[in-house]
Amino acid sequence: MKIYSLEEAVECSELLVLPLFEDSEISEEIKSLTGEISLDGLCLEKGQEYYILNTKQPVLIVGLGKKEKISQRKLREFAGKIARTVKKAACIYTQSIVCEYLDLNDIVKELVTGVITGQYDYVKIGAKAEDKPEISIIAPKEQMKLADAAALMSSCVNYARTLGNTPSNYMTPEVLADEAKKLSDQLGTECEILTNRELEDIGAGAILGVNKGSSHEARLIVLTYRGDDDAPFTALIGKGLTFDAGGYNLKSAVGMKGMKFDMCGAANVLGAFEYIVRNRAKANVMAVIAATENKIGPDGYNCDDVLVSLSKKTIEVTNTDAEGRLILCDAITYAQQKGAVRLIDMATLTGACVSALGNNYTGVFTNSEQFLDEFKCAALRADEGIWQLPVDEYFHKLLKDSSVADMTNAVRGAYGGSSIAAAFLEEFVEEGVEWIHLDIAGTSDIPKKKPYMAVGATGVMIRTLAEMFC
Ligand code: BES
Ligand code: ZN
Ligand code: ZN
Repeated sequence: MKIYSLEEAVECSELLVLPLFEDSEISEEIKSLTGEISLDGLCLEKGQEYYILNTKQPVLIVGLGKKEKISQRKLREFAGKIARTVKKAACIYTQSIVCEYLDLNDIVKELVTGVITGQYDYVKIGAKAEDKPEISIIAPKEQMKLADAAALMSSCVNYARTLGNTPSNYMTPEVLADEAKKLSDQLGTECEILTNRELEDIGAGAILGVNKGSSHEARLIVLTYRGDDDAPFTALIGKGLTFDAGGYNLKSAVGMKGMKFDMCGAANVLGAFEYIVRNRAKANVMAVIAATENKIGPDGYNCDDVLVSLSKKTIEVTNTDAEGRLILCDAITYAQQKGAVRLIDMATLTGACVSALGNNYTGVFTNSEQFLDEFKCAALRADEGIWQLPVDEYFHKLLKDSSVADMTNAVRGAYGGSSIAAAFLEEFVEEGVEWIHLDIAGTSDIPKKKPYMAVGATGVMIRTLAEMFC
């Protein structure tokens, strides 16, 4: 995405997008671009649009509504909508948005993010990618570095969205591992991929249990980036269920639709990892991804089975559809064996989280309020919605009602399903290790297209993780 200086913009003949608040006036600077124009009779409520053609270059005036109601999100959505509707090259004027509620840095960051994530479409299987018009912004050249960072962040988001949107017959666990390896090779990071044989050797019985119903092998993928000699390692851990049919606790037709997105935790971890590495962040980070399908087959795991996890803790399977926590517990243990002392896991883990928080807030859980404070600041800067939910002794106790194993993987008839799932994961977090769990079941994908965003995977939490490490 290009940045035009004012001087360059005066010379250009592309469509000029002019965002204006209800009380905005036409400044001398705007006049230098458009010549004489008048706002008489125009309503600049949010979303109102006017094309003006008798100017030096065609102008699209877009109403932003009341200044005091502007926000980072509204700006991203405005830019995304422009990106999805404008079919020819255009440039967006920024100076008219600067006000006491948003500075130029925020504006540039959100416009770039809105345009690049807005232009994204998943290329249909067998089709060719459409050419997209170049959309630029008019801002001082000093903003270039910030714009480049936002563009990189958005391309990492779009990369993760493509992984997420790819159907499960194309995106198998093996293919996901190949994609991770390809990324790692491009980034020059270390890459370790464990196959079923190696998972058997180390005793990762929980992920292998879930994998038994599938004709595809499981994979445990570890990418390692060292950007800081002395710093402790943080592991970003992703749930990579390339398809979740539920296993013998089979999902309904309605419940199964969209379960190709059950690997969005893994996809988004890869997207965040890419940004962190390309940005040469001063941090030590590993991406740990557990990948498998959850299906039905002659060998598929049964209800009442007992799995011996990598940590040696034993788990009675009370619901084969609570599989995410089973693959994640082995990934959590493996990350700690590899030396991680801070863990952030990301998973489309529970329907209960969707019921509780809807589609705009990711559920967050932690054992360290201090660690979460850092994360909250990053989420605020990235303007991504998060909401903390509890995980305490009450939920841990519910899981301990088994006569054949250390714990169960689900609790029949209990409320607070997201907190129970979080408590299950916390059972595998060792003393002194800080941990954040992100339940993205409601935020990983949007089922219907929006004016500013294509349907499908969203790449949620990548921008927050990028803010946290860079
Ligand atoms: N992948 C699902 C959770 C999910 C549901 C994600 C809806 C996105 C949208 C997960 O594996 C699952 O099936 N969870 C069960 C747990 C239950 C059996 C304890 C659920 O939430 O119903
Ligand atoms: Zn499930
Ligand atoms: Zn699942």
